[in-house]
Amino acid sequence: MSNNGNNGKKGNNGNNESHAGGSEPVLRIRDLKKTYMQGRIPVHALDGVSFDVRKGELLSIVGPSGSGKSTLISMIGLLDRPTDGSVFIDDVEITKAKESEAPRIRREKIGFVFQHFNLLSTLTAMENVDIAMRFTGTSKNKRNERAFELLTMVGLGDRVKHKPSELSGGQQQRVAIARALANEPAILLADEPTGAVDTKTREVIVELLKGLSEKGQTIIVVTHDMDVARQTDRIITMRDGRIASDTVKGIEENEYEKRYDLQN
Ligand SMILES: Nc1ncnc2c1ncn2[C@@H]1O[C@H](COP(=O)(O)OP(=O)(O)O)[C@@H](O)[C@H]1O
Ligand SMILES: [Mg+2]
Repeated sequence: MSNNGNNGKKGNNGNNESHAGGSEPVLRIRDLKKTYMQGRIPVHALDGVSFDVRKGELLSIVGPSGSGKSTLISMIGLLDRPTDGSVFIDDVEITKAKESEAPRIRREKIGFVFQHFNLLSTLTAMENVDIAMRFTGTSKNKRNERAFELLTMVGLGDRVKHKPSELSGGQQQRVAIARALANEPAILLADEPTGAVDTKTREVIVELLKGLSEKGQTIIVVTHDMDVARQTDRIITMRDGRIASDTVKGIEENEYEKRYDLQN
């Protein structure tokens, strides 16, 4: 009976020399559609979206307000269900999961980072990270160890006893990132993670995300800040619920596939 909470999954230091290329997709999205009814009028928030994300990719999703970015994130994060189409994470079709399985899948596969950090104000940095591991069967000692390790990694090893109100915005966001990583998620989903911090702090957060991606963490960032998007490996631009462009470090994705023959 294993209770180390890691599921024996320790892939974060894997091959990182070319994090866009060569590896299996962690995420596959196929013809994803989501239609909301606004009164009697259907709104096609997602209108046939398909793409793959490989392990260790740092992908940004940009596009005008209302283009479907948040809807896409909530489908990947299993916060809501699509009208049609599929999302596969690690080859599991999460869009087929029973409602009762959704919390466990979210906890094991997804780490969420939000614009406004969403930390619990009465808890310390340590406790905020610890709480993410409470339902995983990990012992108190192991959880403490891991929380400390994660907070140290995000540069807050000397702030573990601080409460959110005693931390700057950037520090709070780093606690939130540590919390999101606690269960070694397949995908880190960040919706406007730099939307509420100053430009200097923004760079700290972006550097942290880049470092994590280099260590093999798959990350999807929704942002309207092109200075953030430009620093990622790949930019998907959404428009009217569809992908308007998909660009890997300056070249279109299909062009990239051809050029580097990403078959294997
Ligand atoms: N819960 C909802 N009910 C009805 N319409 C919604 C809902 N959520 C989003 N929409 C609509 O879907 C479209 C896409 O929204 P959203 O995904 O939030 O876009 P973005 O995050 O790119 O600004 C918009 O037209 C929005 O009004
Ligand atoms: Mg949005």
